[in-house]
Amino acid sequence: MKLFIDTADIKEIRRAKELGILDGVTTNPTLVSRIGRPYREVLVEVAKEVDGPVSAEVISTDYDGMVKEARELAKIRDNINIKIPLIEEGLRAVRTLSSEKIKTNVTLCFNSIQALMAAKAGATFISPFIGRLDDIASEGMEVVEEIATIYANYGFNTEIIVASIRNPLHIKHAALIGADIATIPFDVFQKIIKHPLTDIGIARFIEDYKKIPK
Ligand code: E4P
Repeated sequence: MKLFIDTADIKEIRRAKELGILDGVTTNPTLVSRIGRPYREVLVEVAKEVDGPVSAEVISTDYDGMVKEARELAKIRDNINIKIPLIEEGLRAVRTLSSEKIKTNVTLCFNSIQALMAAKAGATFISPFIGRLDDIASEGMEVVEEIATIYANYGFNTEIIVASIRNPLHIKHAALIGADIATIPFDVFQKIIKHPLTDIGIARFIEDYKKIPK
């Protein structure tokens, strides 16, 4: 399972990179707005920081606008893929971009039929937003299960990015389902490593080591 970080903050990306387990980055306009610098400037910085895939989102919602923006964003670096919203015009844009070998991450996916459409359009990645579904009392992870089954049934190569992750259990369930990727906010990244029994165990070993005759 690949682990991406869901942030546009270069400091967070560097911290995750230091762990040696970072495979890529996803951004969105909300995350970039927190940095307080121009959109493209932030994306250039992020794309240079990592070798793996980096998602950069279009702002337009019409076909021509999305394709134009996507072509511009794709020039930033060859690890950039383009986040396109899961709407009719978006799927048309995905088909065009896929024929131009520009990778896409179809975003704001909330059910498995939408995900089927994205795969048929040639999406490189699909991003079901599970946290936002859980927030409205829907089972986000069920959508991931369904997408995994549908993609396996028909042999689609579109990779599933479990997005809108809120806690470590989301990552565990995504891994049990066999999702290709989880994109994780920095605060959750820190939580998935820590366990109180590990800390207690270390403290006890250090104390007991002191009792060993020198
Ligand atoms: C994914 O690519 C999105 O950037 C992100 O996971 C959205 O998460 P949120 O629902 O916490 O905003």
